[in-house]
Amino acid sequence: MKTILTGVKPTGEVHIGNYIGAIRPALELANDKANRSLFFVADYHALTTVHEAKKLNQMVYDVAATWIAFGLDTKHTILYRQSDVPEIFELAWILACFSPKGLMNRAHAYKAILQQNQERGEQDVDSNVTAGIYTYPILMASDILSFDSDMVPVGEDQMQHIEIARDIAQKINHNYKKAILKIPTGFVQKNAAVIPGLDGRKMSKSYDNTIPAFCDTNKLKKIVMKIKTDSLPPEAPKNTEDSLIFTLYQHFAKPEQIEIFKKRYASGIGWGEAKLALYEVLEENLKTPRETYNLLMSDQSKLDAILADGAKRARTIAQEVLKRVRMATGIER
Ligand code: TRP
Repeated sequence: MKTILTGVKPTGEVHIGNYIGAIRPALELANDKANRSLFFVADYHALTTVHEAKKLNQMVYDVAATWIAFGLDTKHTILYRQSDVPEIFELAWILACFSPKGLMNRAHAYKAILQQNQERGEQDVDSNVTAGIYTYPILMASDILSFDSDMVPVGEDQMQHIEIARDIAQKINHNYKKAILKIPTGFVQKNAAVIPGLDGRKMSKSYDNTIPAFCDTNKLKKIVMKIKTDSLPPEAPKNTEDSLIFTLYQHFAKPEQIEIFKKRYASGIGWGEAKLALYEVLEENLKTPRETYNLLMSDQSKLDAILADGAKRARTIAQEVLKRVRMATGIER
């Protein structure tokens, strides 16, 4: 039985690019009964940048509701809030005592801020860097090592953090000449598709070209109808390859629906009709998740109960690991 661990930092409104590119593949793994699966909301990582209480609180519920709405099985998977597991923070300190400062200096996210400061001609290169941002990788290592994780699926940008977690764990094992911490493996899901946004560039909040996952059906229709198309007449055969509408359709439709849509393109389909078909297939896939999401967000006591149950189960594992480390270090006898 392998332990798979996924951490998500709350970010705000989820769009269909997040769903297809990250959420759907991660859910397949998490729901796989062959694995022990842990899934958590990294609220203390969010605190490095989100300094508004209401916003932070809301974001945590938002992530939990989003993943449940898209089908996270909360009976099989242990879903919890990072801050509900104090063992993680105790282990983080122990890890910090074995983490070379130079390892933190080399973290990409930290280096990116230094570079920005340099470009802006800041006097202090460390301007805007809190100790929380600087030691972010240590807390992340603790998230992973606290649960004897075997596999950690992440985006490309997070691979360095996994390397750092491995480094720290190896240092501890080496020092005490014992396999105290399990060495995790990170992997980037290769089929993680890049979903184009409304303007053809990668769908991203920063380009303002997204299709939100949970907006109401009228708004969804309006957004889809706004997709820009060329001026080919309705009866002209259309190319599926460079069609944004077709690409998006493909990610949601069943194989037989895609075949029919291909034929309609070949025999000439009006762009209005094509957009309507896209809207319909999106609606078909998003209707139930949207309803679940709205229900969970309107009564957060249900989420509280799910998260509390997850934290309880998560702590049982983390306590065992922490005990092992406390004993090895001589903190506990
Ligand atoms: N840093 C990750 C991100 O920004 C979120 C995260 C925190 C995480 N702790 C983790 C991911 C542990 C995997 C494992 O996406």
